[in-house]
Amino acid sequence: MKYTFPENFIWGVATAAQQIEGGITEGGRGLSNWDVFSHIPGKIEGGGVTDVACDSYHRYEEDVALMKKLGVKSYRFSFSWPRIIPDGCGEVNPEGIAYYRKLIDCLKKNGIVPNATMFHWDLPYALQVKGGFGNRNMTGWFKRYAEVLLDNFGNDIEYWVTFNEPIATYVGNAKGFFAPGLSDDAYARQCCHNLLVCHGEAVKLFRSRNFKNAKIGIVVDVWKHYPADPENAEDVKTAEFSNEIEGYGMFLNPLFLGGYSDILTRYMEENRLTPEIQPGDFDTIRQKLDFYGMNFYNVLIDDTRKTGGKNADGSEGGNFQNRPESHTELLERVLSETVEKYKIDIPVMISENGLPQHNDPDREKVLDDQERIDYVKSVLKPLHSAISHGIDVRGYYLWSLMDNFEWSAGFEARFGLYYTDYETLERIPKKSAGWYASVIADNGFEE
Ligand code: BGC
Repeated sequence: MKYTFPENFIWGVATAAQQIEGGITEGGRGLSNWDVFSHIPGKIEGGGVTDVACDSYHRYEEDVALMKKLGVKSYRFSFSWPRIIPDGCGEVNPEGIAYYRKLIDCLKKNGIVPNATMFHWDLPYALQVKGGFGNRNMTGWFKRYAEVLLDNFGNDIEYWVTFNEPIATYVGNAKGFFAPGLSDDAYARQCCHNLLVCHGEAVKLFRSRNFKNAKIGIVVDVWKHYPADPENAEDVKTAEFSNEIEGYGMFLNPLFLGGYSDILTRYMEENRLTPEIQPGDFDTIRQKLDFYGMNFYNVLIDDTRKTGGKNADGSEGGNFQNRPESHTELLERVLSETVEKYKIDIPVMISENGLPQHNDPDREKVLDDQERIDYVKSVLKPLHSAISHGIDVRGYYLWSLMDNFEWSAGFEARFGLYYTDYETLERIPKKSAGWYASVIADNGFEE
């Protein structure tokens, strides 16, 4: 069978500033919440810190050359807020602007379409000290940051993303294992509410500029949970909790339907977790978008009889990846249920998808990543089917171009098409790099 994708399908790769740039004290950059968090002993597996990461601050041309080799049509990267405005709300850093100008020009020279995220988790530490997203002033600070980005790069970026995976802000404030490392559910929910208002303000600002070539959207990851036995009340409740109360529903509902779901509203009331909501907030949050980015990694089947009342694998949300089971074949169902439930009538992108490998000391093993090829195929097949059944998915971005700083998993999880040697900073192609290049060249694959 041949899986051919629509003409002009956007094949891409994705990264994020904090995970690849390094140079955290160079070029006038301020510190981020993750710089500080990663330096707290015990927070990151293997003790990884982001001071150098993949050194893309210096090696961006090399990275663009790798993309060119792969033949990607688009690159999804993120701006580092503390590189643009070191303390988050004060002076703009011209060296930060210059860095992204060079990166964008380099992409354009190579015919690669920029897809840029304003916020992929690296908050200026100076704003974290002021309470981070829990501080309502954040809406003004973020709006100004968005304004600086749009003033400088507005028309140069074809796809703007306001936020990547807002759930990370929940995890960092409620569960403690992401920056800033707090464990306060009520505060976390206030942070997420304020973040959504920030999103809405940024989209309004974007619209006021009437850019000719630029579009704007948001990225919300969907780790959908299904009950193993739809007749089992515990399974159903567990899956619902993960989807609506601590998952994608927290964001997709207000973004596309204009308020929190009844389930979430009730839960927050009963548990004294309801955030302060100002009049007009939901109107601000629910802006018409040009596309929706879905990050998709897996689907979870909650079998509470097996797990003793917990969800699929007993983990707590966020970007945990050590899945005992893969259910990627359910992607088409997830896509169709998501667009239907949230009445999403705009194009969709799979804005991230990928597979981690353990940091095996035997490099050859890591380079021979047939498992990644098999996994990506297991995602592209249902994606192809979803598109042929009329779901308007315009692109697929593989996470990630190269191994990089994997948040609380540090450098122990390797997601790259290219292997990063953290000693020499060399990027070495894995087997999947050649395979992905052929998928792009053929606009699909045959099996
Ligand atoms: C995030 C990335 C992360 C990836 C793999 C997503 O949750 O957006 O930053 O590296 O998944 O865990």
